[in-house]
Amino acid sequence: MKFEVSENILAKISADGVVVYAFEKDKKLVKTKSFNDLDKILEGFLSESVEAENFKAKCGNVLSIHTHRKILSPKVYVLGLGEEKEFDHNVLRKVFAMLAKNVFQKVSSIAVSRLNSQEGKIENSIQAQMIVEGILLGSYRFNKYKKKNEENEKELEIVVFSESNQNTHLKIKEGITKAEIYFKAVKIARDLVNEPSAIVNPSFLANFALEIASKNPLVKCRVFEKNELEKMGMNAFLGVAQAADTSPKFIFLEYVPIKTDSKINLAIIGKGITFDTGGINVKPEQSMSTMKMDMSGAAVVLGVFSVLSKIRPDFSVMGIIAATPNMISGKSLVPGDVLRAMNGTTIEVLNTDAEGRVTLADSISYAVVSGATHILDLATLTGACMIALGENIAGIFSNDNKLKTFVKNAAEVSGEKVWELPLEKDYKELNKSEVADISNISSTKYGGAITAALFLEEFVDNKPWVHLDIAGPAFAEKNHSFGPKGGTGFGTRLILNFLQTFK
Ligand code: BES
Ligand code: ZN
Ligand code: ZN
Repeated sequence: MKFEVSENILAKISADGVVVYAFEKDKKLVKTKSFNDLDKILEGFLSESVEAENFKAKCGNVLSIHTHRKILSPKVYVLGLGEEKEFDHNVLRKVFAMLAKNVFQKVSSIAVSRLNSQEGKIENSIQAQMIVEGILLGSYRFNKYKKKNEENEKELEIVVFSESNQNTHLKIKEGITKAEIYFKAVKIARDLVNEPSAIVNPSFLANFALEIASKNPLVKCRVFEKNELEKMGMNAFLGVAQAADTSPKFIFLEYVPIKTDSKINLAIIGKGITFDTGGINVKPEQSMSTMKMDMSGAAVVLGVFSVLSKIRPDFSVMGIIAATPNMISGKSLVPGDVLRAMNGTTIEVLNTDAEGRVTLADSISYAVVSGATHILDLATLTGACMIALGENIAGIFSNDNKLKTFVKNAAEVSGEKVWELPLEKDYKELNKSEVADISNISSTKYGGAITAALFLEEFVDNKPWVHLDIAGPAFAEKNHSFGPKGGTGFGTRLILNFLQTFK
């Protein structure tokens, strides 16, 4: 898909359709400048049409009007943006994503304009970024294993921004480029999640990471094999991996800026369970069916690192993934087994389905010994977090207000929703084990997202740390505003925003 900027007014751009905007106020339609400009050229035809159709400018509503070729494009789409006081950049992204999923599927080219400075008050480059992000996210499909679609849906090939002001051109181009970089990362994350686990196994993830490094001069990658992991004492990760026929891979990515005064060395850790059967504590059928998604955190890390040399954070960033499936075999862990993590802490595994925190124990320990000054982990960690916050919202936990605030602000910008849950000290005793330093499950069935986070905290060595439990939003069980069923790439744009703002 191509994005261009044209000096022409909408009426003079040859496209399959042009988009103008309307807001809603007190249930009435409020016309925008783009609407009025085109309406004038069409001699009031747009006004007549919205009235005749009794069109409401609710968020995402679209009225499609035939222009009878009075302008170059055969169609005008009047796009409702909802109440102006509720409007923000996240709304703009969302309505374009929704359009991409239906209306734009029938055309191969569209022209859009921007809102003027009075309307909605979103900076020009951000407007362009939101429109492009929305269209790209909403157009995403994962059809490689399907027969070619017989109905022959068109693909949107080109989007033209109409803009007369030369200075604004640069701003719009800036926004387009940023959105394209973000989408590249999200697409990688989504594809990795959507591929079956037979393809995306630990070796696949390791090779993917090595390839990222081979293409980007600022990124290095090292993959640790089983024998090395044994020497390093990563017995928690190895314990989870021991039932599988695939060999475990511990993936370490490193980005170092060319020149910096920053002392920050951020570790981004992604849970990398390529399939979660539950192990000997096998999952029931319904819970297991989507468990190729249990490497969604790892997918975010790889998506982010794929574009890191374009984003160029001002500080060092490490990416860490302990990749293995959680399988069932004669070699499986069984309840009661005790594993010694890399930092010396012993873990009693009382439920083999609580495997994520066990692999993360070693991932986090490794981040600490590698000199991480700040740690951020993304993990599809608990069903309990989905019960608490539903499918659209990630749980955020942190031991550090500053780091947490930066992550929350980045989430506000990316529109990926997070909600804070507490690291309640009184619940720590729920993770106590009779025989080891800590148990991998809590002694009650309540507050499971919190006790899992408290388990992770044992390994962060008091470093500033944020944990995102993305079990809910990482994988959509039905089509959603920003794309189809399947991997969502949740967290990717959030992290990319964070990397550009944190200091
Ligand atoms: N991968 C799952 C968590 C999960 C559940 C992710 C649903 C996405 C959707 C994790 O490994 C797990 O099985 N957690 C258990 C922990 C329990 C045994 C303490 C859970 O949440 O049930
Ligand atoms: Zn599990
Ligand atoms: Zn899991």
